[in-house]
Amino acid sequence: MIEVRGLSKTYDEIEAVRNIEFNVEAGEIFGFIGPNGAGKTTTIRILATLLLPSAGSARICGHDVVKSPEEVRKVMGYMPDHWGVYPDLRVREYLDFFAASYGIPRRERARAVGDVMELTDLGELSNRLAGALSKGMRQRLCLAKTLIHDPQLLILDEPADGLDPRARIELRELLRELARMGKTVLISSHILTELSDLVTSVGIVEQGELLMSGPVEEIVARLSGPRFHLRTTAATLGRALEILLAQPGVEAHLLESEELEFSFHGQEEAVASYVRALAVGGVEVLGLERLRADLETVFMAVTRGRVQ
Ligand SMILES: Nc1ncnc2c1ncn2[C@@H]1O[C@H](COP(=O)(O)OP(=O)(O)OP(=O)(O)O)[C@@H](O)[C@H]1O
Ligand SMILES: [Mg+2]
Repeated sequence: MIEVRGLSKTYDEIEAVRNIEFNVEAGEIFGFIGPNGAGKTTTIRILATLLLPSAGSARICGHDVVKSPEEVRKVMGYMPDHWGVYPDLRVREYLDFFAASYGIPRRERARAVGDVMELTDLGELSNRLAGALSKGMRQRLCLAKTLIHDPQLLILDEPADGLDPRARIELRELLRELARMGKTVLISSHILTELSDLVTSVGIVEQGELLMSGPVEEIVARLSGPRFHLRTTAATLGRALEILLAQPGVEAHLLESEELEFSFHGQEEAVASYVRALAVGGVEVLGLERLRADLETVFMAVTRGRVQ
């Protein structure tokens, strides 16, 4: 759906984006994460055909963003980080205006507007002046506008910025709903925690460079070794810890009584040899469970805490 190759952008002296490469597959919710000034908006504006790259290329649904911007705009909805609403238009008029500017025929427009208002829960505000909406309501209006031409791909630049906790949850629900409808979503944020339970794949940028990208599960698997939860008896717990710590490459620590966690580098199957060592050492293994590493722990390790 999105293919970015060797993308760079230099403003005067500043190299805002350096040789960035990533792919987003259809149906993904891709989190584009990085601290202030990392180059997220710059990359996004290039994808949205609003800014020319200094080098490299980007394709959306196979269309080159520089050579075929019109084709790209048809399949993509872009929500900028800052935008102005026309304050004197009512919500419904505002959406109708954008529907018209996307070339949606008059007879289909009312339905298109109704659909996006329902989706973004704007129905009760349809006669409100755009200029009289709160920040969260405006955010929803902007999202509705972004959806008006039923794009396959949504590119959202920090859509949760400035929203209260409830509105953030609602936004997440809405994005999930859009993903269920088959849309692909690229969403930027400087806060990983906000996206960690939403995204299916991520790209982490820092100072114009992409530190890593790919499906969440792959990244987690690549960057953190297998992790297991072990349950044993109180009598053999200390012994279990001792045995595990004696294995090369194994890290282990106690949890509450009679339980511990351990991790290691390499293939998951290697756990069999550790279980054998435990049994030989007289440890009574009552339970063993594979744990999923979470994205956040992995990222904190990779970015040394700079991305938060
Ligand atoms: N129009 C511009 N002219 C000159 N430099 C710019 C321009 N826009 C951005 N930059 C610079 O490019 C770098 C990347 O900025 P960008 O807005 O892409 O970052 P960002 O990741 O979106 O940050 P934020 O989280 O603050 O939105 C920064 O150093 C910024 O100062
Ligand atoms: Mg930005």
